Amino acid sequence: MRDSPPPTGIAVGRLVNAPENFIDACGVRAVFAEARQGRRDFIRRAFAATATATAAVAAAAAVPVVAVAAVVPVVPDDGDPEILNLPEHTLGLGQPVVTDGYGLPSKYERNVQRRQSPGLTQTTQASVSFAPLQSLFGIVTPSGLHFERHHQGWWDIDPSRHRLMLNGSDDTLMKKPLVFTVDELMRLPSVSRFHFIECGANTGMEWGNVAVPTCQYSHGMISCSEFTGVPLKLLLDMAGVDYKRGRFVLAEGADGSSMTRTIPMELVESGEVFVAYGQNGEMLRPENGYPLRLVVPGVQGVSWVKWLRRIEVGDQPYGAKDEVLHYIDLMPGGMHRQYSSTQECKSVVTTPSGGQVLLDKGFYSISGLAWSGRGKVTRVDVSVDGGRNWRTARLQGPVMDKCLTRFQLDWVWDGRPTLIQSRAVDSTGYVQPTYRQLRGVRGTRSIYHNHSIQTWLVQESGEVKNVQLS
Ligand code: MTE
Repeated sequence: MRDSPPPTGIAVGRLVNAPENFIDACGVRAVFAEARQGRRDFIRRAFAATATATAAVAAAAAVPVVAVAAVVPVVPDDGDPEILNLPEHTLGLGQPVVTDGYGLPSKYERNVQRRQSPGLTQTTQASVSFAPLQSLFGIVTPSGLHFERHHQGWWDIDPSRHRLMLNGSDDTLMKKPLVFTVDELMRLPSVSRFHFIECGANTGMEWGNVAVPTCQYSHGMISCSEFTGVPLKLLLDMAGVDYKRGRFVLAEGADGSSMTRTIPMELVESGEVFVAYGQNGEMLRPENGYPLRLVVPGVQGVSWVKWLRRIEVGDQPYGAKDEVLHYIDLMPGGMHRQYSSTQECKSVVTTPSGGQVLLDKGFYSISGLAWSGRGKVTRVDVSVDGGRNWRTARLQGPVMDKCLTRFQLDWVWDGRPTLIQSRAVDSTGYVQPTYRQLRGVRGTRSIYHNHSIQTWLVQESGEVKNVQLS
């Protein structure tokens, strides 16, 4: 679908970025504390008070033709000094080539960073950093902003000493166990594919109630890259695997966390699983598994084993510690659900989102990200009245399988409280659920696989808050 400029006759609003873009770590803590006060009771009251008003807002937003902005860009009578006075960079000599052998973002963008959630974990080695979704465009996450999840810290491993071993759990499952160097793997035919990776715990803090203020922390355990590597099926074929009996593989990482995960052989046979060495046109970053990591499209991040050193073929699931103690879902009846690996269809509006401030009424382009571990995103609907009315958003190409998809919707804010939501649909027909629907099946005490519809409340002041509608 095409992108369009704002409809003529409507003033363009202005937006202040989310707090991580301009405040320090101490400020972020203060914002967190404030967000925790804004729980559902408050929201229910706020919503009740504005329920009648929001119906009118929806009607207005559905046809964005009314000029509502009080503020329009003002040109000073005596001209704009930023245009009239020639700046230094127009008059002088710029910096030479190769000032930085590896280029860096502008100094004006230095607050766009992945960040840790205050107080989330005891140590920084077994922790998470969240990607700044609210500051990114398109679908690719710059490698330096890719979220991180380490169980025992990260390493910059010497690729000349790293090995990938393939073996069977018994001698009959693999005819010829193999050991590859990184160079040997890089000589084989490769694939390059765009995929999202989402930690199963993404949005996990929000299961019971609102817990974090901004979309960096509510949804930032997701990133999307073009990965390059060798299909695992090719390597297993070279090793002579007995596919009749060998219906599972175990992937093992070389860090101290004993990270091992079972992958069903059907996924490997589909050709989708690959051993990656490349990320966004260069080698993987150390934090993301350099020199080798497993790419398991559509499956939760924990199965994308980093610093991959061994693949074992077996005839049953392995029940590893990260499959029986962690990464399991506590169901309402007290039972645990295991091996629920697929990341279901989900979306989030990134602009406007929590912590941002709308400075004026008027036109805004609502923008966000949608994805599904089961295929392509086929539709995203956006509501500006808490889910009573929905309009279909434009999908910005390319739209790819098991990849982030960017969506946009024209919207005119009339200055009244507005509840913004997005709801994605995937190529299997699955529709992203509300919190009520998800909690009905999964309860409130889970950690993983929260893919509910997210709500942002734009308050009359223009400040945007994370809220939940029950
Ligand atoms: N692999 C190893 N060897 N060690 C780890 O700690 N963390 C896993 C997975 N692979 C992990 C690992 C988890 S829980 C996730 S969500 C992803 O890596 C995170 O990948 P990233 O750090 O590249 O974003």
